[in-house]
Amino acid sequence: MNFNSLNEIASYIVSDGKGILAADESNPTCTKRFDSIGVESTEENRRDYRELLFRAEGMKGNIGGVILFDETIRQKAADGTSLVDIINAKGALPGIKVDKGLSAIGDSEESLTQGLDGLDERLKEYFELGAKFTKWRAVINIGEGMPSSEAISANMEALADYAKIVQNNNMVPMVEPEVLMDGAHSIDDCYDATSRCLESLFSYLTDRGVDITGTILKPNMVTSGSKASNQASIEEVAQRTVDCLKANVPESLPGITFLSGGQSDVDATAHLDAMNKIGGFNWKLSFSYGRALQQPALKAWMGQSENGSLAQEALSHRALMNKLASEGKWDQSLEN
Ligand code: 13P
Repeated sequence: MNFNSLNEIASYIVSDGKGILAADESNPTCTKRFDSIGVESTEENRRDYRELLFRAEGMKGNIGGVILFDETIRQKAADGTSLVDIINAKGALPGIKVDKGLSAIGDSEESLTQGLDGLDERLKEYFELGAKFTKWRAVINIGEGMPSSEAISANMEALADYAKIVQNNNMVPMVEPEVLMDGAHSIDDCYDATSRCLESLFSYLTDRGVDITGTILKPNMVTSGSKASNQASIEEVAQRTVDCLKANVPESLPGITFLSGGQSDVDATAHLDAMNKIGGFNWKLSFSYGRALQQPALKAWMGQSENGSLAQEALSHRALMNKLASEGKWDQSLEN
């Protein structure tokens, strides 16, 4: 596939209801996921699992991009084909996580994402390896006195600096300011924190001269805290999320692809569908799910190659359900 601009790449990824498969778990996070099914997290097992996901039939037409971890972008399938080539053959574009994880701000519970050092050199190699887009994740907590303005500002500034360096290297930056669901906070608290982050982020992106038309936003949805006794309905999450995005995100942004953040797979689909049924916005509203796309496939696989086609069917199903949700065409009855 040939692209003439960053906008063409970003627009392709979210075209026709397509979304992103987030498969960029770091090795420690992948180990956590494999522990849950009793599988050892070796390089070969990680390769086998991801190879089977990328070869799933349902990648085609439903997935426009795959986010990889450093190890994976270099890996070859059992038959010698590179995993990047397998992804490209499904009509999806390879992306790469480029941040270096979180570092605590002083002795607070807040963090600042690291990774600007040496980023330019790393990006040049990832470009050569076939990456068309990149991801950087900032993490924002809600709690007593949190998020602080300092944590928001430092993280959004780093996201903008990262985005500019990525565009200078001819790749599309995905900017991910994740307000965590952890806690007993209300949906109003989540709206407020998300709104403050997005306002700050777009102000820094503009300040740094980042081309918004060649950028993808990966936000959280506006939800109740995971431990809140009063959980907002699907309709309320959808409406509050759309309101928050409309208040803070420029219309020229081509795509918004949500993270799932610990939502169940069907909830993540139902929320996305409800937002697209509300409509009235210019950006494509789509998905960049990790757990909400992979969980059923991981459970079906259980580390056994004879379960490979079941795992692929599970991923294909979720990919199709989310594509339909990105077009506002999903219905609960399709899950059965
Ligand atoms: P989840 O959808 O599991 O939250 O993962 C998406 C992701 O890439 C987080 O950075």
